[in-house]
Amino acid sequence: MTRIVQLTDSHVTARGTLWKDQVDTASRLATEVAAANALQPNLVIHTGDVVELGATPEGPAEYEQAAEILAGLTAPLRLLPGNHDGRAQMRAAFPDQKWDNPPFLNFSTDMDGLHVIGLDSIIEGQTGGAFPQAQVDWLADVLDDRPTVIFLHHPPCPMGLPFMDGFGFDGGDLLAQTIQGHDVKRLACGHVHSDVAVHWAGTVVAAAEASSVHISPDMAAFDALPQGEIRRAGIEPLRLRFFDWKDGVLSVKSVPAQASRAQAVI
Ligand SMILES: [Fe+2]
Ligand SMILES: [Fe+2]
Repeated sequence: MTRIVQLTDSHVTARGTLWKDQVDTASRLATEVAAANALQPNLVIHTGDVVELGATPEGPAEYEQAAEILAGLTAPLRLLPGNHDGRAQMRAAFPDQKWDNPPFLNFSTDMDGLHVIGLDSIIEGQTGGAFPQAQVDWLADVLDDRPTVIFLHHPPCPMGLPFMDGFGFDGGDLLAQTIQGHDVKRLACGHVHSDVAVHWAGTVVAAAEASSVHISPDMAAFDALPQGEIRRAGIEPLRLRFFDWKDGVLSVKSVPAQASRAQAVI
């Protein structure tokens, strides 16, 4: 069996600081790293928004903190950028990572017959995502007849979350065309900080809960807030998403990243 753990949206800030002066995202990521190690995965994939201000002068100090925490993983790590990341800063902070199709940060690897693809979906400086022609050519070239999972930061389609969907994705139709005819089991995303999945382009697009704060999927209530009202993200117990690949079956699971105190005898 092959097991892959997904980390996403850790939004780590520099040592001694808090995310939006409120949340210790570094210690939340450390909690997830410990939980990931307990699952004994073969691979860990971080689907972006590794840090909060990656492309700014704050970036190097944030990446230093994130890299130190992620160094605690016992399994190999692959990283993808999110809209809060900077490509050059990520390359500098993680010199051992090997990415394809520069300047993009892509990867493609085989895990026991499962083709695992990492697709860079960012437009530096923007919140929304994209699948530009240079990425079409790369993805079309690496896709083959193996069962495949594509990891990327941005969902390429609306997820039923108006606040996040509003930031958009450029080239979703191209991505749908490119994967057509291939056995793409799933597009595993982050970005929306919610556990939500939709059927799209003959596959499933599924976002995992963030390693930082949770944005309520009850978006009707969230979007009904008057303009200027403070939007409150939940600081909820962390859950960890993982994928098991065994005998041609991909099963997608999650577990609490923090110990539960309650037990029942069954
Ligand atoms: Fe995020
Ligand atoms: Fe994001």
